[in-house]
Amino acid sequence: MKIVRKVKPDIYYIGASDMRLALFENLFPIEKGVSYNSYCIIDSKTCVLDTVDHSVEEVFFSNLKCALNGRDLDYLVVNHLEPDHSSCINEIVLRYPNVTIVFNEKSYAMYQKFTDCSISFPTLIVKENDVLDLGNHKLTFIMAPMVHWPEVMVTYDLTDKILFSADAFGTFGSLTGNIFADEMKIDDSFYDEARRYYTNIVGKFGSAVQVLLKKAKTINIEMICPLHGPIWRNNFTEFISKYDLWSRYEAEDNDIIIIYGSMYNNTYHVCEDLAYLLAEEGIKNIKLYDVSKVDVSYLIAEIFRVKNIVLACPNYNGGIYPKMHDLLIDMQALNVSNKNIAVIENGTWAFMAGKKIKDILSSLKNIHIIAESVSIETTEKQSTLEQLKQLVNQFIK
Ligand code: FEO
Repeated sequence: MKIVRKVKPDIYYIGASDMRLALFENLFPIEKGVSYNSYCIIDSKTCVLDTVDHSVEEVFFSNLKCALNGRDLDYLVVNHLEPDHSSCINEIVLRYPNVTIVFNEKSYAMYQKFTDCSISFPTLIVKENDVLDLGNHKLTFIMAPMVHWPEVMVTYDLTDKILFSADAFGTFGSLTGNIFADEMKIDDSFYDEARRYYTNIVGKFGSAVQVLLKKAKTINIEMICPLHGPIWRNNFTEFISKYDLWSRYEAEDNDIIIIYGSMYNNTYHVCEDLAYLLAEEGIKNIKLYDVSKVDVSYLIAEIFRVKNIVLACPNYNGGIYPKMHDLLIDMQALNVSNKNIAVIENGTWAFMAGKKIKDILSSLKNIHIIAESVSIETTEKQSTLEQLKQLVNQFIK
C-alpha cells in the first residue's frame, strides 16, 4: 500500500525522490538527493503531468496506481522530454494502452530520437493556448523553449490556477514527506540550493526565462508545481524575484567573494591578506573559496549571487591554473555578466595567467575588470601588500 499526498482534492503528487544518486546529470553533487515530481489529476478524464527518472520508476507506478484507484489513464502530458522526466513514457503506454500522450511538435520530434521502440499510441499535438478539457479541469499550454531544452512547455490549470512549471522553480534536494514549500523552512540554505540548481542547469538561458516570466505575469497563478523540489501554494513572490534577477544576470548582493587556486598556499596567503584588508575597510560577508576543493557548481552559484569577484591563481603550463581555467570556461558557457572582477596572478619565472584570464573574461558581457590587478612574484612581499591596498581602494571607492 502506498501513501500519496494530495496537492488539491482531486490532484495527487505521484513523484518520488532519489536519495542515493551522488551526481545529478552525472555532474552536480547532490548531498540531499533530488526529487522527480509528477502529478495526477482525477477528473472526468484522468491525466498525468510528466513522468520520472528510471531510478524511481517503480515508486512512481505504485503512486500512480494508488491515485487512479482502479480508473484507467486517459492522458499523459509531456512538458519536458529530458529523461529525468520522460523515462517512463513507453512503460506508461504498456501499462495503460488507452492513454493519449500530449506532446507539442518539438517534443514529439524529440521523443522519436529517444526511443527505437516500435510501440505506438494515440497522440495529441498541442500548441500555445490550446485547451485540454478533462471535465472540471481545463489545461492550457504555454510554450517555454530553452527553459531548459527547446521543446519545453508549461501547463496551466485554468480551474485551480496552477502552473505546472517544468524545470522552472525547481531545486536540488529530496522531498522528505513535506511536499509543500510552506511545510518547510525556506531560508538561505534553501535559496543556496535553488540558485545552484538554476544557475548550473538553466543559467545559460536567461533570456528564455525572461520570456516565460513575462508570459507568467499575464496569468493568475495560485500554485506552482515544478518538476523538482517543493510545490508553492503561497508566498512565492521572493522566489519569482530571484528568478528575475538570476535570468537577467543581476547580482543579489554587493558582496565580495575571492576564488583562488593555490599549489603551495602562497597565493592563498595573499588572498587571505586581501580578505583582512577588505574587512579592515568594513566589508562584510567576504567569502574565500578554494577552486580545487569547492565543486564548480557551488562557485557558479556564488558568482551569480554577488557583484564583486576576485580570481587568483598561479601560472600553470604557461597559462591558467587548470581548475581556474575550468571555472572560467563554465562562466563563459553560462553567460555570466554584469560583474566587477579583479585578477591576481602568481608566477616565479613567467606571468601569463593574468592576461589569459582577462582574455576569457573579455568575452563575457558587461564585465568590469578592475585595472590594478596584482602580480605576485611567488610569495607575498611588501610590494604585494601595496598592490593589494590599491585593489582594496578600487573595491571601496
Ligand atoms: Fe529536470 Fe531539464 O530536466
